[in-house]
Amino acid sequence: MNNFVIAGNWKMNTNIETTISIIKNVAEQVDQLNEVKSTIVICPPFTNIYVAAQEAKKSKHNIQVGAQNCHFEESGAFTGEISLDMIKSLNCDYVIVGHSERRAYFNETNADINKKLKAVLKNNLKVILCIGETLEDRQSHKTFDVLETQLNGCLQDIVENDMKNIIIAYEPVWAIGTGVSAKTEEIEEAHNWLRNYCEKKYANAGKTVALLYGGSLNDKNAPEILNVSNVNGGLIGGASLVPEKFVSIIKTAESLSK
Ligand code: 13P
Repeated sequence: MNNFVIAGNWKMNTNIETTISIIKNVAEQVDQLNEVKSTIVICPPFTNIYVAAQEAKKSKHNIQVGAQNCHFEESGAFTGEISLDMIKSLNCDYVIVGHSERRAYFNETNADINKKLKAVLKNNLKVILCIGETLEDRQSHKTFDVLETQLNGCLQDIVENDMKNIIIAYEPVWAIGTGVSAKTEEIEEAHNWLRNYCEKKYANAGKTVALLYGGSLNDKNAPEILNVSNVNGGLIGGASLVPEKFVSIIKTAESLSK
């Protein structure tokens, strides 16, 4: 299995000034480590990606930058939207697609997400695909049906060779921003199910695709959560905005890396 992926999703937070100060602080702390095996990714809002990438480059380790969304068309009359060509020109390496907030507040469907995912791959960037059930889904015992529908839809036409550029983030909607993560048994059950799904569909690539957990992951629960089998990293919201917390999660990942 590859090393951990520790990714921060800043959502609609920060401005240019705070972006620089957070990344600078993270980089200074990370630079005190001799070696960093984990992949570190920070996803600021679009407007701050350029300065984030400039600042991240100053680190002696590789801190990568990602976008939180994209449009699937190459260009055209889509007022207010951001294309992958624009994103690429910001020195961006990753794009998050399918976040539950985009599904819930912007009505993104699995078919939309599939179009975005294909467009990201076509532009030679890496995808962080988010999936996850709502509380209602879980309470009505539909978790795995929902995850399967999301994966089947979002990964339509995606072949084994594409999987090397895809990371899957399991983010139970009910655990996002609540301060209470899913229990380790729930995470383990979901991640084992996901691994099984990926192996069935993508053979060898399914064995190595990184499966991240997201939903109130923080410096306190990271040691327990990152130690769960088939958890290969985390997608972190709130705690990624606090350098001490984000770096502590990175250090936990480093201590668990073989
Ligand atoms: P929180 O870590 O704030 O719960 O957010 C998780 C998330 O949605 C990351 O994409």
